[in-house]
Amino acid sequence: MKQRKLGSQGLVVSALGLGCMGMSEFYGFGEESESIRTIHEALDAGVTLFDTADMYGYGDNERLVGKAMRNRRGEAILATKFGFVRDPQRPGERRISGRPEYVRSACDASLRRLGIECIDLYYQHRVDTDVPIEETTGAMAELVVAGKVRFIGLSEASAQNVRRAHAVHPVSALQNEWSLWSRDLEENDQLATARDLDIGIVAYSPLGRGFLTGAIKSPADFGSGDFRKNSPRFAAENFEKNLRLVREVEAMAKRLRCEPSQLALAWLLTQGDDVVPIPGTKRVPYLRENLGALEVRLSADDLQELDAVFPPDAASGARYPDMSFVNR
Ligand SMILES: NC(=O)c1ccc[n+]([C@@H]2O[C@H](COP(=O)([O-])OP(=O)(O)OC[C@H]3O[C@@H](n4cnc5c(N)ncnc54)[C@H](OP(=O)(O)O)[C@@H]3O)[C@@H](O)[C@H]2O)c1
Repeated sequence: MKQRKLGSQGLVVSALGLGCMGMSEFYGFGEESESIRTIHEALDAGVTLFDTADMYGYGDNERLVGKAMRNRRGEAILATKFGFVRDPQRPGERRISGRPEYVRSACDASLRRLGIECIDLYYQHRVDTDVPIEETTGAMAELVVAGKVRFIGLSEASAQNVRRAHAVHPVSALQNEWSLWSRDLEENDQLATARDLDIGIVAYSPLGRGFLTGAIKSPADFGSGDFRKNSPRFAAENFEKNLRLVREVEAMAKRLRCEPSQLALAWLLTQGDDVVPIPGTKRVPYLRENLGALEVRLSADDLQELDAVFPPDAASGARYPDMSFVNR
């Protein structure tokens, strides 16, 4: 498995990671046994980076990942996140906390659920605009000193906040949505800032939450708890427009003799050696297909063609129903 460096603090991970979120929430239901098989298959294939967060499934996702890793902890780089405060009694509500005492208690809770002594990569999931980021990062730095965390990261933090945090403690990774249809970070200075500071980029939702694979044909495909049901990108008024873009990806993938999912991931892998996509799946066949992206070579002409059929601002609809939670 090809390796990539995230940041300049010594963190090295497989070029593709595995996103575990959908195993517990947001994209329909799955069997725990199948999810665990998928994690084990990923480990067997040499995937080392596994991504979870305390808020996924109200802690269930960390428990699941911890269970799957029980006898294989040494093979994995476990990444988790804190920051979203949720109450199962009020599923529609979200709060964000970056208060130092909250950071400490969230970390202890994640360690307990994962059943491990140290988190390899600990992200602030979203910046708390009521707490100076220096205070939150300071608390994360103390966790490193205490041996509870090895490397720190940020998710969806603005360029300015990335710089402020990095001045307190070196940030190894910036995790952002990045894919053919989500390219904000290229335009809003986050990418340039990360590169300036030698911070690695972890690209989340690299398959456009499944859409770029061509497998989603209609908004009616989503069940009631599915995040995509309420996402502007998948809303009826945008769905058909976005599907036309996916048809172009499918046609190009056919010409290149690969799957659309592999083309979408190969495009990201080609953006730089500092980029690690973390496609999410709870199914072994999808995992195998996605890992095939590592073998897809894109020429400069291919990249130009993709840029022409899928320009940066081509997607219709916002990434989130409430964009106030991103780029804080
Ligand atoms: N930092 C953040 O704020 C943030 C936000 C979102 C996600 N994330 C992380 O990023 C990871 C990846 O993102 P994501 O899961 O949101 O989106 P994604 O990787 O773009 O897409 C996941 C969806 O695509 C489907 N899929 C995967 N491979 C496929 C294939 N080869 N063919 C057809 N369908 C396929 C999956 O189906 P199945 O579910 O049926 O397998 C799932 O519904 C997450 O797991 C999570 O760890 C972070």
